[in-house]
Amino acid sequence: MIDDKQKRIISPENELEDDVLDTSLRPKKLDEYVGQEKVKENLRISMEAAKRRGESLEHALLYGAPGLGKTTLSHIIANEMGVNIKITSGPAIEKTGDLAAILTNLQEGDILFIDEIHRLNKTIEEILYPAMEDYALDIIIGKGPSARTLRIDLPHITIIGATTRMSLLSAPLRDRFGLVYHLNFYENNDIETIVKRSARILNIGIDDLAAKKISERSRRTPRVANRLLKRVRDYCEVKGDGAIAEAICHDAFTMLEVDELGLDWIDRKILEIIIDKFKGGPVGLSTIAAATGEDMSTVEEVYEPYLMQLGFLDRSSRGRIVTDIAYKHLGKKKL
Ligand SMILES: Nc1ncnc2c1ncn2[C@@H]1O[C@H](COP(=O)(O)OP(=O)(O)O)[C@@H](O)[C@H]1O
Ligand SMILES: [Mg+2]
Repeated sequence: MIDDKQKRIISPENELEDDVLDTSLRPKKLDEYVGQEKVKENLRISMEAAKRRGESLEHALLYGAPGLGKTTLSHIIANEMGVNIKITSGPAIEKTGDLAAILTNLQEGDILFIDEIHRLNKTIEEILYPAMEDYALDIIIGKGPSARTLRIDLPHITIIGATTRMSLLSAPLRDRFGLVYHLNFYENNDIETIVKRSARILNIGIDDLAAKKISERSRRTPRVANRLLKRVRDYCEVKGDGAIAEAICHDAFTMLEVDELGLDWIDRKILEIIIDKFKGGPVGLSTIAAATGEDMSTVEEVYEPYLMQLGFLDRSSRGRIVTDIAYKHLGKKKL
């Protein structure tokens, strides 16, 4: 596996070390949530309307790549609505009884956040349908011909689902969400605002150029931005006077092997393998996975999105193709 060699610092996925960072840096109010203007505007209206009617918020589905702020946004929603939030995830709910227990313990108006909702087991998913539609729980009592269903009323709760893979969500589940929000990759100036905000909270001195440099390498993803800020800060504390200046920032990125577009050695390796071994493609996902020693889903969900976002990789019916601009970036000649 390539990631055994060195931990990936620009991974958009949540790593253990992020947890502390995530909680201290997570904005608490919608006004502090940077960027995603359309989502915020729609959400503000829906929340205000629900409050005025004295109702719970409609069920909401948040989808977008890892690290873009889905978990953060659901905490903000709970905070703004003044309700409790209970956190769980698709793979964590193993039995129908687990979900039933969670649902019956919620209070009126509470939010149940289900992360990675696309990984919810089918039979468990079916418990959610009446819970979302009728605020009811159907329990089957007994077995065989004498079995009967008992319906229990649930409080008016809001389900917030988060997913990185909208296409894996079943249609009946998707249809039960009144609000659907797509989080996009951030603009560089929004990431810059996030870097400066985090630096302020963590008491790190940083100059404008250095903030810009970190933002440009953050793959348009807040989680990556916060992590890079922390790594660069560590470097500057050891090699400099603690404050982050542009020059020393440059050295930090050289050491971390993160290039000016935020690509690390794994990204470059994937592109190089396709170029050197498969003449730039088209090459199938399974072949790329085998050549890099990674899972197909990891290549598809973790490595490819940003490369496609940059226009370095194209998807065709016959497989992945490395584009001309990627050749140029890597300094490779097309044969
Ligand atoms: N819009 C935003 N403004 C400021 N910080 C953000 C924003 N979105 C995400 N973050 C930061 O990025 C980190 C990762 O966000 P998170 O909500 O955990 O992402 P996801 O759940 O989509 O993987 C959070 O700790 C938060 O500090
Ligand atoms: Mg999350």
